[in-house]
Amino acid sequence: MGTPEVTTLRDRLGRPVEDLRVSVTDRCNLRCRYCMPREVFGPDHTFLPRSELLSFEEITRIVRTAAGLGVTKVRLTGGEPLLRKDLPELIAQLVAIDGLTDLALTTNGLLLPQQAAALADAGLHRITVSLDALDEATFREVADTKASILGVLEGIEAARAAGLGPIKVNTVLRRGMNDDQLEDLAGWAREADVTLRFIEFMDVGTTNGWLRDGVVPAAEVVDRIHARWPIEPVDRDHPGEVAERYRYTDGAGEVGVVASVTRAFCRDCTRARLSAIGELYTCLFAATGHDLRAVLRDEAADDTRLRDRFAAIWSARTDRASELRAEEGLTGPRVEMSYIGG
Ligand code: GTP
Ligand code: 5AD
Ligand code: SF4
Ligand code: SF4
Repeated sequence: MGTPEVTTLRDRLGRPVEDLRVSVTDRCNLRCRYCMPREVFGPDHTFLPRSELLSFEEITRIVRTAAGLGVTKVRLTGGEPLLRKDLPELIAQLVAIDGLTDLALTTNGLLLPQQAAALADAGLHRITVSLDALDEATFREVADTKASILGVLEGIEAARAAGLGPIKVNTVLRRGMNDDQLEDLAGWAREADVTLRFIEFMDVGTTNGWLRDGVVPAAEVVDRIHARWPIEPVDRDHPGEVAERYRYTDGAGEVGVVASVTRAFCRDCTRARLSAIGELYTCLFAATGHDLRAVLRDEAADDTRLRDRFAAIWSARTDRASELRAEEGLTGPRVEMSYIGG
């Protein structure tokens, strides 16, 4: 047919596309200060109008195309993906796609008590919950909310009860904000049987007031955990995995660190990102995406055109922003995390 084999698509640095993160909304019911500071994402902020969003059929068509080019992992993100109406319908369409072996979702957990069962019934494989503190006051301060952490913990339990395991929890540590929560969170995760990963605070977007001093380096996180509960490194699951994994030597499971600032992992980056309106981003730190919606909505464009467009975008990719940050710092416009998802 003249189309490339699934495994032959590589970007300019030799990296295949394996992982697609799909943002289904740019809205969120929290205002985490490192992601959606209220001064920027307040009542006057204009979110994407519903009419602009890709339909579930359109998202499914793009994911099917991506699967044909090598994508095996899909993660639904937002904003907060559980704010998107009827999300289980999308999940049911996505799990039916040939070649997809992993369908996950990243959420702040607050809506899981109501939605976990429907997500599991639709076929979602697993979830990752973002949680930055165990202490109620710190949680409210970091997420800039009146919501209670009890809602998130209930959400995690609802997910477990629905069979959405194994559950991962992501914690972004920010010096002076929630770094005192490290041991409490690790201790809780050991007991609660969830895999916790500590993420370095990143300069995603241009509104979160990032300063290098705010980053708690992964090496420090590992030292602090090890001082309390000895840990040893575990091999990465696969080369593109973002988290460095450690095992508690007493058998209480694993913990991870995502060292995106201090040990950039661009060399193995196999991730593409799709915005809620159908722009394909080849890096978390890109200023703009490539419009796939126009191709989708062009009646003259068949699946081959969509596939060729996707392949052309990936083939031209040279991104390695986190490595460049280490070499020369990041400058210029960058997409916001809430727009493109974790
Ligand atoms: P699993 O498949 O469950 O292991 O997911 P994952 O390892 O892809 O982790 P997850 O999607 O939970 O991402 C964890 C965090 O790592 C994100 O919230 C981001 O902060 C960061 N991250 C993920 N992907 C990238 C990336 O491509 N570049 C950078 N710089 N950071 C990333
Ligand atoms: N640095 C690191 N991680 C971030 N996230 C959001 N903003 C940042 C940032 N500036 C993470 C959230 C969540 C996922 C959606 O992205 O904590 O786990
Ligand atoms: Fe919402 Fe997640 Fe961003 Fe917090 S980190 S504001 S929960 S999208
Ligand atoms: Fe991939 Fe860009 Fe993150 Fe590097 S900075 S790992 S290229 S998304």
